[in-house]
Amino acid sequence: MSSFKDLRVVDNFYQTSLFYPMPTVCISTVNPDGSMNIGAYSLVFPYYIAGKDYYAMILECRNNSNTCQNILRTGKCALNFIPDDKASFKEAVRLGFPGPSEDKMPNLKFKLEKGLADPDDENRPLVIKSSFQVIECTWDSSLEDGGKYKAGEMDGYEPPYNDFNGITSKFGAHFILKIDKILMKEKYYNAIVNGVKAGDFPPVPVDYGYRDSTNFWYTPFPRFKKPHAEPIAAPKEIDISSLRYAADRCDDTIKFTDEALKNFVKVPRPFLKTVLMGCVDWAKENGVEVIDDEHVKIINDKRNAEKNKK
Ligand SMILES: Cc1cc2nc3c(=O)[nH]c(=O)nc-3n(C[C@H](O)[C@H](O)[C@H](O)COP(=O)(O)O)c2cc1C
Repeated sequence: MSSFKDLRVVDNFYQTSLFYPMPTVCISTVNPDGSMNIGAYSLVFPYYIAGKDYYAMILECRNNSNTCQNILRTGKCALNFIPDDKASFKEAVRLGFPGPSEDKMPNLKFKLEKGLADPDDENRPLVIKSSFQVIECTWDSSLEDGGKYKAGEMDGYEPPYNDFNGITSKFGAHFILKIDKILMKEKYYNAIVNGVKAGDFPPVPVDYGYRDSTNFWYTPFPRFKKPHAEPIAAPKEIDISSLRYAADRCDDTIKFTDEALKNFVKVPRPFLKTVLMGCVDWAKENGVEVIDDEHVKIINDKRNAEKNKK
């Protein structure tokens, strides 16, 4: 008899069905207008560690994120390992809320400075000054011809998809990132070069993997305390006129009532078109021309039932 329970594997299993220790990394990239973007990421791991022509990391991300779109365009990013303190983790969670770069970047709490890899290249992002280490990277867009995917598809990419480098599903992307430079704060540089003692390890925020709709969880330093919960900001509500604008552009024949649209005020903007199009598809399958509040409830019930079946 096993000492374990068999837990079902569902979408985003690393954060819905596991306690999976992960790094908390803030990725800086350059926006089309030359300004900086920073997004929070944990699915970033060593990929080529030896025996290849270069060393590489792999990043898994949503393909309509600012980070993904900027990497597709510029090929450059910096993986900033933020220090372990509540203010930095709070800022990482704020930077992890989906939405346009110009909404979050004016209030950035982190200070930025130039990195060390070709600092005159305008596609090279600045790095976060308080990081204890930073990996400056260039995307290897040659693997699997990943470079064939272009930035600009904010409502999801159509197939065919790559298996491991570039766009890998409608809303997913994987990037194999060549390591150009590792930047290390002097204290830790000296420790690595001269021999590390127990007191020389930087305190690192370990993200617990598991999250729900209200909190990200991470273990503060020192470890083995109860994990600290960092609330995800309540989404800014979208006003009804913006919802109406988006809904009227979904389809020529299917319409939404205002009552129906009010169900979507809290949907993060990058997901809005997908949610509305899901309703349009349902309406067409069911011979409905005007989607009202009741229809949205039926669609939501159907979606929840499908999720639970998985
Ligand atoms: C701690 C933390 C870790 C995250 N890890 C990932 C990740 O590995 N991959 C991903 O696609 N999104 C991840 N997210 C969500 C992204 O931060 C979110 O999609 C955000 O909008 C990305 O910002 P950007 O659009 O400026 O790139 C994470 C969020 C937080 C707070």
